[in-house]
This record gives sequence, C-alpha cells and structure tokens, in this order.
Amino acid sequence: MTTNVTVTADLMMSVDGCIAGPNAGIGNPGGDGGLRLHEWIAGLASWRERQGLTGGEHNRDSEIVGEWFDATGAVVMGRTMFDTGEEPWGDDPPFRAPVFVLTHRPRQPEVKRGGTSYTFVTDGIHSALEQARAASGGRNVDIAGGADTVQQFLRVGLIDEIQLHVLPVLFGEGLRLFDRLGLLHQELEPLRVVHTPNATHLKYRITRKA
Ligand SMILES: NC(=O)c1ccc[n+]([C@@H]2O[C@H](COP(=O)([O-])OP(=O)(O)OC[C@H]3O[C@@H](n4cnc5c(N)ncnc54)[C@H](OP(=O)(O)O)[C@@H]3O)[C@@H](O)[C@H]2O)c1
Repeated sequence: MTTNVTVTADLMMSVDGCIAGPNAGIGNPGGDGGLRLHEWIAGLASWRERQGLTGGEHNRDSEIVGEWFDATGAVVMGRTMFDTGEEPWGDDPPFRAPVFVLTHRPRQPEVKRGGTSYTFVTDGIHSALEQARAASGGRNVDIAGGADTVQQFLRVGLIDEIQLHVLPVLFGEGLRLFDRLGLLHQELEPLRVVHTPNATHLKYRITRKA
C-alpha cells in the first residue's frame, strides 16, 4: 500500500458554494448556468494543452491549473460526473491518468488515448482510493467530484488538501459542495490564496480530520 500519496480535491465553485447549476445531467453537464464556473479555464494555455490545443494565455490561472494537472497521478470521480463528461471528454480525455469511477452499475474498464483509463469501482470509496493510490505512481490522487463523491471522502476524513477556484458569481440555487456533511468540524490550514481577475484560488490543508 502506498501511504504517502496526497489526496486532493480541486473544484470550481460559486461564492455561494455551488459547483453546478440546477438540472445538471447528460447534455447539461454543469447544470443551468453552470458554464460560468468553467469558461475562465478554456482560454488558459495549460488547459488548452490538455485538450490537444496550442496557444492560450500564460498567466497565474494557467500556472495554478497546470500545477494541479501535473501533480495528479490518479483520479477518483462519481458516476454522475463521469456520465455527464464522458462524451465531451471523447477518446483523448484531459486526465492523462487512471480514473476510478464510483458506481453501483458495473461496466468493463476502458483504455483511452493519452494515458487515461476508466475503471468502474462498485465496492466503495476506500476501494477506489486504494486502487487510485496504487496507480498514482506516488503523485496525488485527485477526488475530482462531483459533490456527492467529495462529501463522502470529507465525511470520513480522507482528503488531505482542498483547493477551491471561487468564481465571482452567486448561483442562489444549484449543487452545493459543502452539503450533507453532518457535524464535521474539520480544521483547515490555509496554504495559499491567489486572487486574479478570473477567480480567487483558495488552497487549504485539512489538519484535523473527522
Ligand atoms: N465545479 C466543479 O469543479 C465540478 C467538478 C466535478 C463535478 N462537477 C459537477 O458535479 C455534478 C455531479 O455531482 P453529483 O454530486 O451529482 O454526483 P457524483 O458525485 O459525480 O456521482 C454520484 C454518483 O456516483 C455513484 N457513487 C458515488 N458514490 C458511490 C459509492 N460509494 N458506491 C457506489 N456508487 C457511488 C452513484 O451513481 P450510480 O448509483 O448511478 O452508479 C452516485 O449517484 C455534475 O453536474 C458535474 O458537472 C463540478
């Protein structure tokens, strides 16, 4: 077992805590209005490189996104995130790492181009994390989302670092990241705050786990 792997979660969030708008689903991955959380990233050089594109802006946002991608050796995500993303990610998905998809619906593993593979895990978050750790090559395991998946990992204290890319927008309604956590009281050590015209990037280490 590889124990010295850092477990991270990096999410784009509205100021009022939503990571997707209402009515998210296949064909509407970010929910109503949810594109607002993702549009800032589309012009960044580091993001474009992951899409097989050239050009884009080399700025602080791009460095932060590139740092997140480069540090990640394996990914865990929920089946809803996977189902809504599978088509847009296509045959050369941006992960370039093994992806472990939590699901109750078994499916054969798939190998995509560029180093991405999808493995469907039906025996829970601890199993997904162990498989991801083993496949990470010692780099970070990123709990990519969505809300249900991140909440499960937070509830049992399995996330070491969380980075929130907070967009200056209020949703009012939508999918809230910090919901259904019960009485948690986890202490956070601030690691970094970077403010750009696009977003405020808040990075914390979770120092006292449930
Ligand atoms: N803003 C951001 O940075 C960001 C990042 C990621 C995702 N998102 C958004 O988040 C939304 C999806 O989030 P979500 O909270 O609805 O769902 P989710 O966490 O992506 O997936 C939840 C689903 O995963 C499966 N699952 C989760 N835990 C499981 C377990 N322990 N055992 C077995 N199966 C398990 C279940 O699906 P089945 O029972 O159907 O198998 C469950 O309904 C999407 O709209 C996506 O765009 C936003």
